[in-house]
Amino acid sequence: MKKDLISVAYLTDKDIFDIFSLTDKLKKNKTKYSKVLAGKTLALIFQKPSNRTRVSFEVGMHQLGGDSVYLSSQEINLGVRESIEDVAKTLSRYVDGIVLRTFAHQNVVELAKYATVPVINGLSDFSHPCQALADVYTVKEKLKKLKGITLAYVGDGNNVCNSLLYACAKAGLNMNVASPKGYEPDGGVFEGAKVLAAKSKAKINLFKNPLEAVKGADVIYTDVWTSMGQEKEAAKRKKVFKDYQINKHLLSFAKKNVLVMHCLPAHRGEEITDEVMDSKNSVVFDQAENRMHVQKAVLIKLLGEKK
Ligand code: CP
Ligand code: NVA
Repeated sequence: MKKDLISVAYLTDKDIFDIFSLTDKLKKNKTKYSKVLAGKTLALIFQKPSNRTRVSFEVGMHQLGGDSVYLSSQEINLGVRESIEDVAKTLSRYVDGIVLRTFAHQNVVELAKYATVPVINGLSDFSHPCQALADVYTVKEKLKKLKGITLAYVGDGNNVCNSLLYACAKAGLNMNVASPKGYEPDGGVFEGAKVLAAKSKAKINLFKNPLEAVKGADVIYTDVWTSMGQEKEAAKRKKVFKDYQINKHLLSFAKKNVLVMHCLPAHRGEEITDEVMDSKNSVVFDQAENRMHVQKAVLIKLLGEKK
Protein backbone atom coordinates (compact mmCIF):
# COMPACT_ATOMS: atom_id res chain seq x y z
CA MET A 1 0.00 0.00 0.00
CA LYS A 2 1.11 3.59 -0.59
CA LYS A 3 2.42 5.74 2.28
CA ASP A 4 -0.84 7.71 2.61
CA LEU A 5 -4.59 7.20 2.38
CA ILE A 6 -5.69 10.26 0.42
CA SER A 7 -8.30 8.80 -1.91
CA VAL A 8 -9.74 5.37 -2.68
CA ALA A 9 -8.58 6.09 -6.23
CA TYR A 10 -4.99 5.40 -5.16
CA LEU A 11 -5.76 2.02 -3.58
CA THR A 12 -5.59 -1.14 -5.65
CA ASP A 13 -8.41 -3.66 -5.38
CA LYS A 14 -5.90 -5.90 -3.59
CA ASP A 15 -5.23 -3.13 -1.02
CA ILE A 16 -8.98 -2.88 -0.40
CA PHE A 17 -9.49 -6.63 0.06
CA ASP A 18 -6.35 -6.87 2.24
CA ILE A 19 -7.80 -4.15 4.49
CA PHE A 20 -11.10 -6.08 4.64
CA SER A 21 -9.46 -9.37 5.54
CA LEU A 22 -7.39 -7.73 8.29
CA THR A 23 -10.59 -6.05 9.52
CA ASP A 24 -12.24 -9.50 9.78
CA LYS A 25 -9.32 -10.68 11.90
CA LEU A 26 -9.40 -7.57 14.11
CA LYS A 27 -13.12 -8.06 14.75
CA LYS A 28 -12.64 -11.73 15.65
CA ASN A 29 -9.61 -11.38 17.90
CA LYS A 30 -9.24 -7.99 19.54
CA THR A 31 -6.63 -9.00 22.12
CA LYS A 32 -4.21 -10.41 19.53
CA TYR A 33 -3.68 -6.92 18.13
CA SER A 34 -3.67 -5.00 21.41
CA LYS A 35 0.03 -4.06 21.22
CA VAL A 36 0.78 -3.86 17.48
CA LEU A 37 1.06 -0.06 17.54
CA ALA A 38 2.66 0.23 21.00
CA GLY A 39 4.86 3.32 21.17
CA LYS A 40 3.20 4.89 18.09
CA THR A 41 1.29 8.17 18.14
CA LEU A 42 -1.32 9.46 15.70
CA ALA A 43 -2.05 13.20 15.34
CA LEU A 44 -5.60 14.22 14.41
CA ILE A 45 -5.87 17.67 12.83
CA PHE A 46 -9.55 18.56 12.55
CA GLN A 47 -10.77 21.77 10.92
CA LYS A 48 -14.39 20.59 11.05
CA PRO A 49 -16.42 18.90 13.81
CA SER A 50 -16.59 15.11 14.10
CA ASN A 51 -18.07 12.36 16.22
CA ARG A 52 -17.37 9.10 14.38
CA THR A 53 -14.06 9.91 12.70
CA ARG A 54 -12.42 11.42 15.75
CA VAL A 55 -13.68 8.89 18.28
CA SER A 56 -13.12 5.84 16.07
CA PHE A 57 -9.53 6.87 15.31
CA GLU A 58 -8.73 7.73 18.94
CA VAL A 59 -10.30 4.58 20.39
CA GLY A 60 -8.94 2.45 17.54
CA MET A 61 -5.42 3.71 18.16
CA HIS A 62 -5.82 3.02 21.88
CA GLN A 63 -7.06 -0.53 21.21
CA LEU A 64 -3.92 -1.17 19.14
CA GLY A 65 -1.67 -0.05 22.00
CA GLY A 66 -0.89 3.41 20.59
CA ASP A 67 -1.74 6.98 21.49
CA SER A 68 -3.37 9.91 19.73
CA VAL A 69 -3.24 13.71 19.96
CA TYR A 70 -6.26 15.75 18.87
CA LEU A 71 -5.47 19.14 17.33
CA SER A 72 -8.36 21.48 16.56
CA SER A 73 -8.09 24.74 14.62
CA GLN A 74 -7.43 26.42 18.00
CA GLU A 75 -4.03 24.71 18.10
CA ILE A 76 -3.14 24.24 14.45
CA ASN A 77 -4.69 26.89 12.28
CA LEU A 78 -3.44 25.15 9.16
CA GLY A 79 -1.98 27.57 6.63
CA VAL A 80 -2.78 30.60 8.81
CA ARG A 81 -0.69 30.29 11.97
CA GLU A 82 1.84 28.20 10.08
CA SER A 83 2.19 26.86 6.54
CA ILE A 84 1.01 23.33 5.77
CA GLU A 85 4.59 22.46 4.82
CA ASP A 86 5.95 23.53 8.21
CA VAL A 87 3.15 21.73 10.08
CA ALA A 88 3.90 18.55 8.12
CA LYS A 89 7.63 18.75 8.75
CA THR A 90 7.23 19.51 12.46
CA LEU A 91 4.61 16.87 13.22
CA SER A 92 6.66 14.26 11.34
CA ARG A 93 9.34 14.71 14.04
CA TYR A 94 6.85 13.84 16.82
CA VAL A 95 4.22 11.43 15.54
CA ASP A 96 3.94 8.30 13.39
CA GLY A 97 0.87 9.27 11.38
CA ILE A 98 -1.48 12.21 10.78
CA VAL A 99 -5.24 12.26 10.12
CA LEU A 100 -6.49 15.47 8.55
CA ARG A 101 -10.13 16.60 8.31
CA THR A 102 -10.24 19.72 6.19
CA PHE A 103 -12.08 21.78 3.58
CA ALA A 104 -9.92 21.92 0.42
CA HIS A 105 -8.75 18.48 -0.70
CA GLN A 106 -5.48 20.08 -1.80
CA ASN A 107 -4.63 20.58 1.90
CA VAL A 108 -4.45 16.79 2.40
CA VAL A 109 -2.37 16.39 -0.74
CA GLU A 110 0.04 19.10 0.41
CA LEU A 111 0.31 17.77 3.95
CA ALA A 112 1.15 14.32 2.57
CA LYS A 113 3.72 15.81 0.19
CA TYR A 114 5.76 17.31 3.03
CA ALA A 115 5.08 14.78 5.82
CA THR A 116 7.51 11.91 6.14
CA VAL A 117 4.88 9.92 8.08
CA PRO A 118 1.61 8.53 6.61
CA VAL A 119 -1.25 10.99 6.13
CA ILE A 120 -4.87 9.80 6.23
CA ASN A 121 -7.71 11.85 4.76
CA GLY A 122 -10.34 12.10 7.52
CA LEU A 123 -12.71 13.93 5.11
CA SER A 124 -12.20 16.75 2.66
CA ASP A 125 -14.78 18.60 0.56
CA PHE A 126 -13.88 16.19 -2.25
CA SER A 127 -13.65 12.79 -0.58
CA HIS A 128 -14.07 10.63 2.51
CA PRO A 129 -12.09 7.43 1.84
CA CYS A 130 -12.28 5.94 5.37
CA GLN A 131 -16.06 6.20 5.17
CA ALA A 132 -16.33 4.47 1.80
CA LEU A 133 -14.03 1.62 2.87
CA ALA A 134 -16.12 1.01 5.99
CA ASP A 135 -19.30 1.19 3.92
CA VAL A 136 -18.25 -1.40 1.36
CA TYR A 137 -16.93 -3.60 4.19
CA THR A 138 -20.35 -3.34 5.87
CA VAL A 139 -22.15 -4.36 2.68
CA LYS A 140 -19.82 -7.36 2.33
CA GLU A 141 -20.34 -8.32 5.98
CA LYS A 142 -24.13 -8.07 5.77
CA LEU A 143 -24.72 -9.60 2.32
CA LYS A 144 -21.71 -11.98 2.27
CA LYS A 145 -20.75 -10.89 -1.25
CA LEU A 146 -20.17 -7.83 -3.41
CA LYS A 147 -20.37 -9.14 -6.98
CA GLY A 148 -23.86 -8.61 -8.38
CA ILE A 149 -24.90 -6.36 -5.48
CA THR A 150 -26.32 -2.91 -6.33
CA LEU A 151 -25.99 0.11 -4.08
CA ALA A 152 -28.28 3.04 -4.86
CA TYR A 153 -26.97 6.38 -3.61
CA VAL A 154 -29.77 8.93 -3.40
CA GLY A 155 -28.98 12.60 -2.81
CA ASP A 156 -26.07 14.98 -3.05
CA GLY A 157 -23.15 13.96 -5.28
CA ASN A 158 -20.74 15.01 -2.53
CA ASN A 159 -17.48 13.85 -0.91
CA VAL A 160 -19.05 10.63 0.41
CA CYS A 161 -20.61 9.85 -2.97
CA ASN A 162 -17.28 10.45 -4.76
CA SER A 163 -15.43 8.02 -2.49
CA LEU A 164 -18.20 5.44 -2.72
CA LEU A 165 -18.01 5.57 -6.52
CA TYR A 166 -14.32 4.64 -6.44
CA ALA A 167 -14.79 2.03 -3.71
CA CYS A 168 -17.75 0.32 -5.41
CA ALA A 169 -16.06 0.38 -8.82
CA LYS A 170 -12.85 -1.13 -7.45
CA ALA A 171 -14.55 -3.71 -5.24
CA GLY A 172 -16.92 -4.81 -8.04
CA LEU A 173 -20.18 -3.46 -6.64
CA ASN A 174 -22.78 -1.85 -8.94
CA MET A 175 -23.71 1.72 -8.02
CA ASN A 176 -26.71 3.78 -9.08
CA VAL A 177 -26.56 7.48 -8.24
CA ALA A 178 -29.72 9.61 -8.20
CA SER A 179 -29.08 13.34 -7.82
CA PRO A 180 -30.91 16.49 -8.85
CA LYS A 181 -29.54 18.47 -11.79
CA GLY A 182 -26.47 20.44 -10.78
CA TYR A 183 -25.79 18.23 -7.73
CA GLU A 184 -24.39 15.16 -9.51
CA PRO A 185 -21.07 13.65 -8.38
CA ASP A 186 -17.83 15.10 -9.74
CA GLY A 187 -17.70 14.41 -13.49
CA GLY A 188 -14.07 13.25 -13.42
CA VAL A 189 -14.75 10.85 -10.55
CA PHE A 190 -17.86 9.50 -12.25
CA GLU A 191 -16.09 8.83 -15.55
CA GLY A 192 -13.05 7.42 -13.71
CA ALA A 193 -15.27 5.09 -11.71
CA LYS A 194 -16.91 3.87 -14.92
CA VAL A 195 -13.52 2.91 -16.34
CA LEU A 196 -12.59 1.09 -13.11
CA ALA A 197 -16.00 -0.60 -13.01
CA ALA A 198 -15.50 -1.96 -16.52
CA LYS A 199 -12.46 -3.84 -15.16
CA SER A 200 -14.25 -5.23 -12.10
CA LYS A 201 -17.39 -5.97 -14.20
CA ALA A 202 -19.51 -3.61 -12.10
CA LYS A 203 -22.01 -1.11 -13.49
CA ILE A 204 -22.19 2.58 -12.58
CA ASN A 205 -25.31 4.50 -13.57
CA LEU A 206 -26.61 8.03 -13.09
CA PHE A 207 -30.34 8.77 -12.61
CA LYS A 208 -32.47 11.84 -12.00
CA ASN A 209 -35.37 9.86 -10.57
CA PRO A 210 -34.63 8.26 -7.18
CA LEU A 211 -37.48 5.75 -7.60
CA GLU A 212 -35.78 4.35 -10.70
CA ALA A 213 -32.37 4.25 -9.00
CA VAL A 214 -33.60 2.14 -6.06
CA LYS A 215 -35.50 -0.37 -8.21
CA GLY A 216 -33.82 -3.75 -7.70
CA ALA A 217 -31.15 -2.27 -5.41
CA ASP A 218 -29.82 -4.27 -2.45
CA VAL A 219 -28.64 -1.19 -0.56
CA ILE A 220 -29.98 2.36 -0.39
CA TYR A 221 -27.50 4.96 0.81
CA THR A 222 -27.91 8.63 1.57
CA ASP A 223 -26.07 11.54 3.17
CA VAL A 224 -27.04 15.03 4.32
CA TRP A 225 -28.27 17.55 1.75
CA THR A 226 -26.07 20.26 3.26
CA SER A 227 -22.50 19.23 4.05
CA MET A 228 -20.18 20.93 6.51
CA GLY A 229 -19.15 24.29 5.08
CA GLN A 230 -22.32 24.67 2.94
CA GLU A 231 -24.57 25.95 5.73
CA LYS A 232 -25.46 29.16 3.84
CA GLU A 233 -27.06 27.04 1.08
CA ALA A 234 -29.21 25.00 3.50
CA ALA A 235 -32.60 26.63 2.67
CA LYS A 236 -32.04 26.33 -1.10
CA ARG A 237 -30.85 22.74 -0.78
CA LYS A 238 -33.93 21.72 1.23
CA LYS A 239 -36.05 22.70 -1.77
CA VAL A 240 -33.78 21.16 -4.41
CA PHE A 241 -33.56 17.79 -2.61
CA LYS A 242 -37.12 17.46 -1.30
CA ASP A 243 -37.95 14.55 -3.64
CA TYR A 244 -34.76 12.71 -2.68
CA GLN A 245 -35.80 11.73 0.85
CA ILE A 246 -35.33 8.13 1.99
CA ASN A 247 -38.82 7.37 3.28
CA LYS A 248 -41.29 4.50 3.34
CA HIS A 249 -42.65 5.41 -0.10
CA LEU A 250 -39.17 5.21 -1.65
CA LEU A 251 -38.47 1.90 0.11
CA SER A 252 -41.65 0.43 -1.39
CA PHE A 253 -39.89 0.61 -4.79
CA ALA A 254 -36.86 -1.36 -3.54
CA LYS A 255 -36.34 -5.00 -2.49
CA LYS A 256 -38.17 -5.90 0.72
CA ASN A 257 -34.97 -6.56 2.66
CA VAL A 258 -33.03 -3.64 1.21
CA LEU A 259 -30.29 -2.36 3.54
CA VAL A 260 -30.43 1.31 4.40
CA MET A 261 -27.13 3.08 5.00
CA HIS A 262 -26.11 6.59 5.99
CA CYS A 263 -22.63 7.82 6.87
CA LEU A 264 -24.11 9.95 9.70
CA PRO A 265 -24.62 12.50 11.14
CA ALA A 266 -28.20 12.36 9.81
CA HIS A 267 -30.58 15.28 9.58
CA ARG A 268 -33.64 13.24 10.48
CA GLY A 269 -36.76 14.47 8.69
CA GLU A 270 -34.69 15.83 5.78
CA GLU A 271 -32.75 13.22 3.77
CA ILE A 272 -34.11 10.32 5.87
CA THR A 273 -37.23 9.82 7.98
CA ASP A 274 -37.15 8.50 11.56
CA GLU A 275 -39.32 5.64 10.39
CA VAL A 276 -36.68 4.40 7.94
CA MET A 277 -33.64 5.25 10.05
CA ASP A 278 -35.08 3.24 12.96
CA SER A 279 -36.47 0.40 10.80
CA LYS A 280 -35.11 -3.15 10.60
CA ASN A 281 -33.67 -2.30 7.17
CA SER A 282 -31.33 0.28 8.68
CA VAL A 283 -27.74 -0.76 9.43
CA VAL A 284 -26.44 2.75 10.12
CA PHE A 285 -24.99 2.02 13.56
CA ASP A 286 -23.25 -1.21 12.46
CA GLN A 287 -21.84 0.91 9.65
CA ALA A 288 -20.65 3.53 12.14
CA GLU A 289 -19.05 0.83 14.29
CA ASN A 290 -17.23 -0.58 11.29
CA ARG A 291 -15.50 2.78 10.79
CA MET A 292 -13.36 1.87 13.79
CA HIS A 293 -12.59 -1.71 12.74
CA VAL A 294 -11.67 -0.80 9.17
CA GLN A 295 -9.57 2.18 10.28
CA LYS A 296 -7.69 -0.06 12.73
CA ALA A 297 -6.73 -2.21 9.73
CA VAL A 298 -5.66 0.92 7.82
CA LEU A 299 -3.59 2.09 10.80
CA ILE A 300 -1.80 -1.26 11.04
CA LYS A 301 -1.10 -1.24 7.30
CA LEU A 302 0.22 2.35 7.27
CA LEU A 303 1.86 2.73 10.69
CA GLY A 304 2.65 -0.82 11.68
CA GLU A 305 4.21 -2.39 8.64
CA LYS A 306 7.83 -1.71 7.62
CA LYS A 307 7.99 0.26 4.34
N1 CP B 1 -19.40 9.83 9.12
C1 CP B 1 -18.53 10.68 9.71
O1 CP B 1 -17.43 10.94 9.23
O2 CP B 1 -18.98 11.19 10.89
P1 CP B 1 -18.30 12.37 11.70
O3 CP B 1 -18.45 13.63 10.87
O4 CP B 1 -19.06 12.45 12.99
O5 CP B 1 -16.86 12.05 11.91
N1 NVA C 1 -21.07 15.01 3.35
C1 NVA C 1 -20.95 15.19 4.78
C2 NVA C 1 -20.34 13.97 5.40
C3 NVA C 1 -20.19 14.03 6.88
C4 NVA C 1 -19.54 12.79 7.43
C5 NVA C 1 -20.12 16.43 5.07
O1 NVA C 1 -19.10 16.63 4.42
O2 NVA C 1 -20.52 17.20 5.95
